[in-house]
Amino acid sequence: MKMISFAEFGGPEVLRLIDAEEPHAGPGQVRVAVRAAGVNPVDWRLREGQVLGAHPIRLPAGVGLDAAGVVDEVGAGVGDVEVGDFVFGEGSNTYAEFAVLSAWARMPAGLTFEEAAGYPSVVETAVRLLRETEVAAGQTLLVSGASGGVGSAVLQLARVRGIRVIGTAGPANQDYLRGLGAVATTYGEGWVERVRGQGPVDAAVDLAGSGVLGELVALTGDPAKVLSIADLDAPKFGVRFSGVAGSVRDALAEAVDLISRGELRIPVERVYPLVDAAAAHVDSQAGHTRGRRVVVPG
Ligand SMILES: NC(=O)c1ccc[n+]([C@@H]2O[C@H](COP(=O)([O-])OP(=O)(O)OC[C@H]3O[C@@H](n4cnc5c(N)ncnc54)[C@H](OP(=O)(O)O)[C@@H]3O)[C@@H](O)[C@H]2O)c1
Repeated sequence: MKMISFAEFGGPEVLRLIDAEEPHAGPGQVRVAVRAAGVNPVDWRLREGQVLGAHPIRLPAGVGLDAAGVVDEVGAGVGDVEVGDFVFGEGSNTYAEFAVLSAWARMPAGLTFEEAAGYPSVVETAVRLLRETEVAAGQTLLVSGASGGVGSAVLQLARVRGIRVIGTAGPANQDYLRGLGAVATTYGEGWVERVRGQGPVDAAVDLAGSGVLGELVALTGDPAKVLSIADLDAPKFGVRFSGVAGSVRDALAEAVDLISRGELRIPVERVYPLVDAAAAHVDSQAGHTRGRRVVVPG
């Protein structure tokens, strides 16, 4: 089968489209014929050799955690899906024609494979952040970097939970944030005052890693009320870094319910053929993705 692989850590140019042995579903896993794979920042962080502790890698390595596709092998002990079912979920080496998933859900009606591939890691992260901030209905959550994949999910899950959100994003994404129910503001010069003007903030999440933890602590009044998924300096500010994934299966179950009710939608910024995976990484690394980018085999 065709898959994207890299044999050395480095820039997007280390990615190669290669012929590889097909993987097979082990116990508790399914294999899918991949129709689309989500592009997450962790994909290029791993390619650069940045996050080896959390995801140990042996070279040569494949790329990609998220996929949507058609089940074509069911491992021992799996009873909830059959060959031919359309699923989306998380696994490994998903930038490929076939990939093994370890957590999945059936795709809800009305979702394309390209759209579905954008959800798994993003909704797991959003559900985890909302749980760990302990922000409650009626309270206000500040989201720094609200228009990307994780931000899009956080805003919509917060709206369902009755949480008021103030989100920061670039000028081109202000209407987008408002459409997801948030109070929107740009993150440039004077952003702290603009947020203050919207009233008290009960908790804040840093999704962009843009060096604003000091400001988020000042706005909430307490480092314990701030959480980051993107700034490794978090401990210096007394801020928690959330890096340990929760249940993808539970998050997907919630996502399926909300998608079916029209309460969650993560847009696809752009679809790339597998052979252009390097371009997808260049664009993701530029840091201004609205929703999710995906790669498609074939
Ligand atoms: N620790 C974990 O468990 C975990 C899990 C998932 C992701 N992450 C990390 O979290 C980060 C976000 O992930 P993602 O998938 O949402 O990324 P993404 O889809 O690439 O989104 C990045 C967003 O950041 C915004 N942004 C860029 N510069 C900004 C600034 N100076 N201030 C505020 N926002 C800014 C952009 O908004 P505009 O386009 O509007 O400028 C863009 O929408 C990544 O670094 C990723 O590696 C960590």
